Order: sequence, then C-alpha cells, then structure tokens
Amino acid sequence: MPNPTQLANRIAKSPTIAMNDKAKQLAAEGHSVIGLAGGEPDFDTPSHIVDAAIKAIRDGETRYAAPSKGIRPLLEAIAVKMERDNNVRVDPMSDIIVTPGGKLALFLALKAMLDPGDEVLIPAPYWVSYPSIATMVGGVPVTVETGSDDNYRLRLEHLRERVTPRSKVLIINSPCNPTGHMLSSEEIEAVATLALEEDLYIISDEIYEKLNFDGRPAVSLASIPDIADRVIIINGMSKAYAMTGWRLGWLAGPTDLIGVAGKFNSQTATSAATFTQHAAVAALNGPQECVEMMRQSYEERRDFMVSSFNSIPNMSCPDIEGAFYAFPKVEETSKSSEEVANVILDEAVVVGVPGNAFGVSKDAHIRFSFAEDMNKLSEAVDRIRAMAHMLA
Ligand SMILES: Cc1ncc(COP(=O)(O)O)c(C=O)c1O
Repeated sequence: MPNPTQLANRIAKSPTIAMNDKAKQLAAEGHSVIGLAGGEPDFDTPSHIVDAAIKAIRDGETRYAAPSKGIRPLLEAIAVKMERDNNVRVDPMSDIIVTPGGKLALFLALKAMLDPGDEVLIPAPYWVSYPSIATMVGGVPVTVETGSDDNYRLRLEHLRERVTPRSKVLIINSPCNPTGHMLSSEEIEAVATLALEEDLYIISDEIYEKLNFDGRPAVSLASIPDIADRVIIINGMSKAYAMTGWRLGWLAGPTDLIGVAGKFNSQTATSAATFTQHAAVAALNGPQECVEMMRQSYEERRDFMVSSFNSIPNMSCPDIEGAFYAFPKVEETSKSSEEVANVILDEAVVVGVPGNAFGVSKDAHIRFSFAEDMNKLSEAVDRIRAMAHMLA
C-alpha cells in the first residue's frame, strides 16, 4: 500500500473541531453538556441574506462562478466595504480573490508567499490553524509568545529575537482569537518597523473586525501607508454576518501576489459557490443593523464572562477587546491547560479548548466561546465556580 505524505504526521486535526466532536459525543451519551469550544455565532444568518441566496438559486445562479476569482458585484461590494470600513483602496478586479471561506484564503495567501523552508512569524496565543496551514504549504511556523501578564502586547524586541534570514511573513490577527486583543498604535508601529526592517509580508487576518467592544474600531494594517504594499488582508462573512456554513471569505492585497493566489484558487476551489456570492453581496450592500445587534449582544456577554471569571477564586480573565472568546487563566496551579480542560469537562461537563492548542506554553488557560445564549453561559459559569477548587 502507498503511504500518505510525511507531512500528514505533522498536521493535527483542528483542536476546536476535535473538542466540539467530543461535546457532541457526550451529549449523544445523555450528558448535559455545555459546549463552548466552537467558534461560530449562535445567531441565524439574517433573513435578507438568506432571501438573496434563495432568489439567486431560483434565478439559476447555480453554475460555476465567473470569473473564478469572484463575481463582479461581489468584488465591487468588497472594494467599497474596504474603502468605507477600513480606509483601504483596492482595485476590485485585480486585488481581491473570493474563496470558499477565510481559512482557504489564508491557505492561498501563504501558498503564494512561501518557498519551502520559509518561516512564518506567528504571535501566540494564535488561532489554531495558522501553524498547521503554514506547515501544509511547506513553511516553518515560528511562534512569538506574548503573555496575559503583559496584556498580550506584541513587542518589537520579542519579534526581532525570532527573526532569521528565512523569515518571510508575519501573521497578525486583530481582534485576536483566542484573547480578543486588538493591536494598539504602538504595536502597529512595531509591526510596521519590523516588516520594513526585515522585508516581510504581513497577513492581516481581520475576520473579527466588526466584533470590537467599547467603541474602539479595529485598524486595518493595510491602511498604514508605509506598509500597505506588503499587507494581505484575510476576511470573510462567517463571524460578522453569522454565515459560517456558507463558506465565503476573501483575500485582498498587492496585485502580483493576488494574481498568484488567484491561479491557485482556480486550480483548487474553482470558485466560491455562485449563489453564496450573491448572498454576500446582499450582506455587504444591505442594512448593517443586524451586525450591530449581534455585536452589542456579544459585548453584553463579554461583560458577563469577564466579571464572572474574575469572581471565581484562583481564576483571572483580562479584559476582552473584541471577537467572542474568553481566555481565562487558572492561577497557581500545577495542572497543564489540557489537565484543566479535562477536569472542567469531567466535573462541570463544560467543553472549552486548552490553551496549549493556541501556542501557550507556560500558563494554564482555557478558551470558552461566548457566542452562545446567556442561559447557557450563566449555567456554565455556575458549574465551573462550583468545582473551581479542583483546578488548583
Ligand atoms: C482568526 C480566524 N481567522 C479565520 C477564520 C476562518 O473563518 P472562515 O473559514 O469560516 O471564513 C477563523 C475561524 O474560526 C478564525 O478564528
């Protein structure tokens, strides 16, 4: 029998998906499981978006999309959105590729940038898929760890320590999954300095840009003039419009790189689904109140999660600036993140994702999504509070 590639052994199944599967299995066995491991809105897709998709299907928009990089009305809607929301100007027909999901956009961006052995700087805590995707395209992930004791601040000196002659790309995710951290102006300055100093590409993953709290908007790195020509934005419909299952994302950036990513897109995905693209046009060009309503709801839940975890003895949860995850830390414990996650699973029957999955090596953290209704969140916190003494 032939064997799969050696690379296969270095790629783990997504831990969030694995924990979600575990939650489903426990529920099927009759346990009263509260699953907070996932990363998707609990809201339904707004009805005007659903209606646009149904209309597109009925109108016969069910064939391969043309062009493969995205239908013209969607490319134009994305370009208008980028100028309006992000202060970034792109040519819709040459600087954007629409993909079946932001995850594939990231894959295509890295595939277009990396030669085998090139290194990808990834600040940790990071979204679980960054190192795996970098590895899958032949790159080498290099972690730059930040800590909750320093508010997850990205420091130029720490970035510089991890640079080598093979460094090629720096991935930035603001607001960040799992910490919610948003880059401050000093950190943006540090990123820009490093990129220019070391001649790096920057991937700016802006998928959570709409989910920011306390009235502080997320800044797109592509809006910083000195580095705009080396920034590739990853974005999509999943989080802001509650459209995870529709699989619609995009990458946008310098024309030459987007051209390469477009070739790879056409030779793999062919295109994102045609009627989904019409739905995305309705979402981006239509009323935005639904996005704001969901954002406000996440902000209320954020307040609840931060105050709740900070009131549990031996747990702490720094403020969360965006996205929809709490990433509390268990203080003074001899347990690893994985042990903590398993004790919480066994004793509270609440499913979270252990911090080591996000590249945290020192402390015991666990990620809980708060894209779930308040009753569930409140029950989860009560159960954890009742068994928290077992986490020491
Ligand atoms: C940080 C981050 N980037 C990108 C994605 C990709 O989202 P999608 O492929 O659904 O567009 C996710 C999904 O969880 C994410 O958390």
